[in-house]
Amino acid sequence: MPKPRVVLGVGGGIAAYKVCEVLRRFTESGHDVQVVPTAAALRFVGAPTWEALSGHPVSTEVWDRVSEVPHVRLGQSADLVLVAPATADLLAKAAHGLADDLLTNTLLTARCPVVFAPAMHTEMWEHPATRENVATLRRRGAIVLDPAVGRLTGADSGPGRLPEPAEIFEAAVAVLRRGGSLPEDLLGLRVVISAGGTREPLDPVRFLGNRSSGLQGYALAAAAVARGAEVTVVAANVTLPDPAGAKVIRVGTALELRDAMRAAAVDAQVIVANAAVADFRPKNYAESKIKKSDEHSAPVVELVQNPHVLRELGRDRLAPGQTVVGFAAETGDERDSFLDLGRRKVAAYGVDLLVVNEVGADKVFGQQVTQGVIVGADGVETEVPLGSKRALADAVWDRVAQLRGSGVAEA
Ligand code: CTP
Repeated sequence: MPKPRVVLGVGGGIAAYKVCEVLRRFTESGHDVQVVPTAAALRFVGAPTWEALSGHPVSTEVWDRVSEVPHVRLGQSADLVLVAPATADLLAKAAHGLADDLLTNTLLTARCPVVFAPAMHTEMWEHPATRENVATLRRRGAIVLDPAVGRLTGADSGPGRLPEPAEIFEAAVAVLRRGGSLPEDLLGLRVVISAGGTREPLDPVRFLGNRSSGLQGYALAAAAVARGAEVTVVAANVTLPDPAGAKVIRVGTALELRDAMRAAAVDAQVIVANAAVADFRPKNYAESKIKKSDEHSAPVVELVQNPHVLRELGRDRLAPGQTVVGFAAETGDERDSFLDLGRRKVAAYGVDLLVVNEVGADKVFGQQVTQGVIVGADGVETEVPLGSKRALADAVWDRVAQLRGSGVAEA
């Protein structure tokens, strides 16, 4: 399915800086966004920022790249036009069909849903002219969000504040989904994903850890959000920005991860265990930093085994009809290939799907690319060629959607 196309019109208000966050959420969740700022908007946030965040050049006037007829093409090809912040002036122009720059032209040619997120001073929002303009736009089918109530630019406060970026994003995505522009095969599915790597403390400053970055787990989360799922991520020591639209629960150790996963699993239809969970933890935790006693001696650290969280989840199935997906990093040995080792684990862990990665000194950890084989308990094996972690994530969700039929959530 092609990426949904969003035109993000930016009006000339101080809240334009908050719209950078809205843009980031769109691009990170797989939308193709063309930013169309007004000339006044560029006085608040410059073109390089919009271009860098969207990956496309921006222009404000109809006179740039005229041969491409942008004032018609942008509106015609968009799946959604979002205007944020929508100033009193922009609302007035839209209500009256004025078209004196690229954004207002785009609004006239758009045949897709249009969402306005207003931001202005309370007096302007409450002025009868603005009220009538908003009523006109709503009557014609545009969605005009109500501004938030709170602190405005100066010392004053009241209705007129731009809604929070997360709220604007959610509202826009809901409109796209209703318009059929988003893939819906995971719509409403509650999924829990573990990501990152656990750290098992030895003393207040030291831990046993691993190199997992969380990139694959976060790619799984972003892909699931984009396909309509309700996503909870149990993140073990991940320093990446939170995936847009997902709920993130932070944990440190394997035992914390186990508790968080089991609590979330009770209410989930799909579990994906992607975190690198430490198999062992130090038996004793030293309350104060372990010191060297002399030049030659070194302490011996006794380890105990951690529970195997995935094996427990595969066995216990904490919600009826739950789909459980694991990951296995294998090197293979002289007797068995990495894939043979993976196949055996499908039954041993009682999972529905196992993503088997071949690992080695330079493979997978911390890298942007990956490859693997998705092995199903039903015997179906899907090879995922070397590509982005997002591509592997989408291949996993394809298999999950297949296994669950329509992918629509059960009660
Ligand atoms: N896993 C887990 N709990 C553990 C260890 C691993 O839930 N204590 C999960 C990981 O999230 C991942 C899968 O199990 O989904 C990884 O399995 P694997 O690498 O096979 O785990 P190991 O126990 O390290 O396997 P091996 O004994 O072969 O090294």
